[in-house]
Amino acid sequence: MASSPLPFLFFLPLLFLNPRFSQANLHQSKTLLRSTLPSQQSSTGDTTEPTLFFEVTKPISVPHTKPCSLTVLQHDFGYTYGKSPVLSNYTFPDDCPFQEFSRIVLEWNATCKGRQFDRIFGVWLSGVELLRSCTAEPRPTGIVWSVKKDVTKYSSLLLMNKTQTFSVFVGNIIDQTYTGVYHVNVSLYFYPAVEKQKLFKGKKRDSGSEIGSKADLIIPFSRDLPLKDGLWFEIQNATDVKGKEFEIPHNVYKAVLEVYVSFHEKDEFWYGNPPSEYIVANNLTDSPGNGPFREVLVSLDGELVGAIWPFTVVYTGGINPLLWRPISAIGSFDLPTYDIEITPFLGKLLDGKSHSISFSVTNALNVWYIDANLHLWLDCKSSKTKGKLLHHSIGPLSVSSATDFHGLNGNFVTKATRSISSTGWIKSSYGKITTKSTQGLRYRNSMVMAKDGNLQTVNQKIRFDNRVHSKMPGSNPKSKKSLKRFLFNMYYDYSKQGNGASLTVANVTLGFNEKRLKEKVRNLQKGNGFMTVKDNLVANGFGNTSQMYIYDGCKSCYTRDVSSSNYTILHDKVGNNCSKRAEHHLESKHHM
Ligand SMILES: *[C@@H]1O[C@H](CO)[C@@H](O)[C@H](O)[C@H]1NC(C)=O
Ligand SMILES: *[C@@H]1O[C@H](CO)[C@@H](O)[C@H](O)[C@H]1NC(C)=O
Ligand SMILES: *[C@@H]1O[C@H](CO)[C@@H](O)[C@H](O)[C@H]1NC(C)=O
Ligand SMILES: *[C@@H]1O[C@H](CO)[C@@H](O)[C@H](O)[C@H]1NC(C)=O
Ligand SMILES: *[C@@H]1O[C@H](CO)[C@@H](O)[C@H](O)[C@H]1NC(C)=O
Ligand SMILES: *[C@@H]1O[C@H](CO)[C@@H](O)[C@H](O)[C@H]1NC(C)=O
Ligand SMILES: *[C@@H]1O[C@H](CO)[C@@H](O)[C@H](O)[C@H]1NC(C)=O
Ligand SMILES: *[C@@H]1O[C@H](CO)[C@@H](O)[C@H](O)[C@H]1NC(C)=O
Ligand SMILES: *[C@@H]1O[C@H](CO)[C@@H](O)[C@H](O)[C@H]1NC(C)=O
Ligand SMILES: *[C@@H]1O[C@H](CO)[C@@H](O)[C@H](O)[C@H]1NC(C)=O
Repeated sequence: MASSPLPFLFFLPLLFLNPRFSQANLHQSKTLLRSTLPSQQSSTGDTTEPTLFFEVTKPISVPHTKPCSLTVLQHDFGYTYGKSPVLSNYTFPDDCPFQEFSRIVLEWNATCKGRQFDRIFGVWLSGVELLRSCTAEPRPTGIVWSVKKDVTKYSSLLLMNKTQTFSVFVGNIIDQTYTGVYHVNVSLYFYPAVEKQKLFKGKKRDSGSEIGSKADLIIPFSRDLPLKDGLWFEIQNATDVKGKEFEIPHNVYKAVLEVYVSFHEKDEFWYGNPPSEYIVANNLTDSPGNGPFREVLVSLDGELVGAIWPFTVVYTGGINPLLWRPISAIGSFDLPTYDIEITPFLGKLLDGKSHSISFSVTNALNVWYIDANLHLWLDCKSSKTKGKLLHHSIGPLSVSSATDFHGLNGNFVTKATRSISSTGWIKSSYGKITTKSTQGLRYRNSMVMAKDGNLQTVNQKIRFDNRVHSKMPGSNPKSKKSLKRFLFNMYYDYSKQGNGASLTVANVTLGFNEKRLKEKVRNLQKGNGFMTVKDNLVANGFGNTSQMYIYDGCKSCYTRDVSSSNYTILHDKVGNNCSKRAEHHLESKHHM
């Protein structure tokens, strides 16, 4: 959802429900916009124990060593909306006897009780974002959840020998209706490297460009403290551009920009926004439009260097909140970030002058929260590197749309493609390395509005293909690729039942698949549920969710097959079987 405190965006009763806006948009359901009192639903499955909410993902593999641990922040987030982030002084634990770590893990543990919306939040260290996430919505009997994130790539920052500002912003609201205070602990675990020889056996450490290697320096592109709200930039419309100036050291030989993105309020469900013609023709002036295509653009000195077609993260209150209890939607507890290769452009950046990186969002409606971290690798054997951009081509965004509607009923098909590529060399003490980066993107969205706008279906697919090749004379080329496929299908049916009651049926399918050189992730979630609403109170409702997660890392595998109905886990099967046959069995069962 959104960090907006405006109740009219979240009109449905039972206040723990933050339904998909489409009800709010459409004229027939405008009456529901009245603010309502929640029903204190004590549904089946109530216990005095808090319910454990979770997002399905592969556990972080850590070495069998005892970590040094540190509680970085402990705070109760009550009324924090529009306030400054909560700060703490971070220093690397001085009682930790180790200096080299093979894994560093950030852990967010929280409990909440009462009634509350889903709140977006961010965690930063010295302005570098470490985690973007969404809170879980509590129950009267209480909930608990834990998010773990591998933050090893931020080692240079986390291991710095100085005090840094750690900040957390959660936009929460407490009043007589929204009673849920988020009680939060943020901890860090530093896992010492087992034995250096073992860890780096047979691998040269000098090139630094192995997958997963850690940057030497990280420059944040976020707003400076002190401020109110999060450190992210807020992109409010399609022409809004936000960014920052920066300078890099003279001996950088590799650069990657990691971008954090989340969408809220009028663009929370951007993939379901109808075209503006439809909005205008039907006088739905308060409803979000601009069609269902969005593109986050990253520019260097005003020139486009990368595009992001984001995954459709559904926050924990989205569409039908009962679908995400206790199995949270893909990416909702740890929003995906997107890497843009900057290495080919280093020649430009090494001139000792100041440059700028900026962000904008095609077709954006209020509001997108965006910031980024520039990861830089430094040549430790030389104080100066040199580079040159050889080629940079920006395939123009090609969007086609077919729109056919009569009144509130219609069909809309939107397709888009884009390609961006850049090549450049960089000369350092490691040699002259030529890096070629390409991005290929494809998008298709087909939307149907029927029943005078009260039935909406959306079928969306994004293919996001990123490749980086680097070549040094006399050695084997290295390549890194990431092929992502994002799937979003939704059926959303609202109907009046007479007597002031209404029924909403929602079916959702979410898929996030990624193929890298040596690993594959397939993650598919299906949910269906309904809510009946009477006198602005949810009288009844349920959500069934099933999820299949398959990680294949060649040597290690992880699968989880889990389903829930209302708050009850129906089955939960975890496996570590790399067998292709086992995988095929799971796939055919879930029609991936
Ligand atoms: C951080 O340390 C400084 C200097 O000791 C102190 O003034 C400040 O209040 C501390 N900040 C927090 C959030 O504890
Ligand atoms: C956080 O929660 C996890 C999962 O329940 C638990 O294993 C861990 O010990 C908790 N951490 C702290 C610091 O309480
Ligand atoms: C946070 O840590 C405190 C102290 O260890 C503990 O009492 C509390 O239960 C923890 N809260 C959560 C949400 O993990
Ligand atoms: C950290 O910095 C302090 C003061 O600058 C210095 O005395 C100390 O030796 C440093 N520690 C390490 C481990 O580098
Ligand atoms: C877009 O947003 C920016 C930043 O809030 C604002 O200055 C500008 O007027 C807006 N433009 C339009 C067309 O609304
Ligand atoms: C939209 O509003 C205009 C002006 O008020 C009116 O003429 C038109 O009939 C309305 N259209 C619809 C579909 O209600
Ligand atoms: C919604 O899901 C339910 C349960 O899986 C199914 O019976 C129904 O046919 C689905 N409806 C649509 C339109 O997909
Ligand atoms: C979920 O809740 C609904 C409505 O209360 C109920 O009809 C249904 O049986 C429940 N499902 C399960 C599996 O408990
Ligand atoms: C939800 O799951 C329960 C338990 O498996 C099942 O009885 C019920 O039919 C499901 N409902 C729908 C609409 O799929
Ligand atoms: C792994 O999958 C294979 C093929 O389906 C099966 O024969 C084997 O028993 C499985 N192993 C485990 C531990 O589940």
